[in-house]
Amino acid sequence: MHVFVTGASGFIGTAVVSELIAAGHAVTGLARSEDSASIVKRLGASVHLGDLDDLGAIRAGAAAADGVVHLANKHDWANPSESNRAERASVEAIAETLAGSRRPLVFASGVAGFSLGRPVTENDTSPAIGPDSARGGAENLAMDYASRDVRVVSARFAASVHDKDDHGFIAVLADAARKMGRVPYAGDGANQWPAVHRSDAARLVRLGLEDAPAGTILHVVGEEGVPLREIAEALAVRLGLPATSMSADDLAAKIPFVGRFLGVDATASSQLTRQRFDWTPSGPTLLDDIAAGHYDR
Ligand SMILES: NC(=O)c1ccc[n+]([C@@H]2O[C@H](COP(=O)([O-])OP(=O)(O)OC[C@H]3O[C@@H](n4cnc5c(N)ncnc54)[C@H](OP(=O)(O)O)[C@@H]3O)[C@@H](O)[C@H]2O)c1
Repeated sequence: MHVFVTGASGFIGTAVVSELIAAGHAVTGLARSEDSASIVKRLGASVHLGDLDDLGAIRAGAAAADGVVHLANKHDWANPSESNRAERASVEAIAETLAGSRRPLVFASGVAGFSLGRPVTENDTSPAIGPDSARGGAENLAMDYASRDVRVVSARFAASVHDKDDHGFIAVLADAARKMGRVPYAGDGANQWPAVHRSDAARLVRLGLEDAPAGTILHVVGEEGVPLREIAEALAVRLGLPATSMSADDLAAKIPFVGRFLGVDATASSQLTRQRFDWTPSGPTLLDDIAAGHYDR
């Protein structure tokens, strides 16, 4: 199929583009700059120039394709509400474009923010409702399009999608640790985060695009939960720093935006996803990737 991929130049997007091309799909990647365009071209994809805020360009990319994988995100940590607004607007623009066509839309979401006191499952409805909620409430908005003949699929990524070149939460923690001279964790560090290797994530996105029925929620989760203390201790070994406890409030104050997540327990199951899509994660674990030096820089 001809797939329009937004965020094609990003950490997950580059792996997804390579995975799709290797499986025989043709890919057109959204790029907002010449630098991003050359990354997309090097992967063997065509380029569609445009910005997330240019909804006309986003709609045109979606209209010309047989399916869409939507991974672009502003990730404006200093202004999360702007990232949320842009996410909601772009998901809506793509879903409206595909309405009535039965074409697939796989879009990025997350397993964080449920606060259930147990692992989140694929059957749990996102508590984020409306434009002011996390990720602009885009998952609930998009799911309504299942009844409007869009084969809509939410890819709820683990809090840490990891591999070489990861610049997500673990990389932010490593950067903060270098500045602080210690690797912090909240309280006793028993709170856990789910994780998945980038290669396993890319494979599941492709499987979802190819086969998932309308309204599917995929849990892109390889490890249900890794204790934050173990993450901090593994980083500490690599960075030559001590791993030390601090209060969740201090952590939130020390590391803007990301710090408050470091104190949260956010386990997630992918049992239903594994059964339905015959998906068995096989990449390195998060602690393997930390030990391999991917966060040393
Ligand atoms: N990585 C994780 O651990 C993780 C965990 C949970 C959820 N997710 C979600 O998965 C998705 C992909 O994440 P990622 O880690 O691959 O992100 P990333 O590496 O930061 O890539 C973001 C992508 O979005 C593009 N983008 C940013 N602002 C844009 C704009 N204004 N217009 C057009 N394109 C724009 C970037 O293009 P440029 O190359 O031009 O910057 C890049 O291709 C995101 O929705 C993210 O929130 C990721």
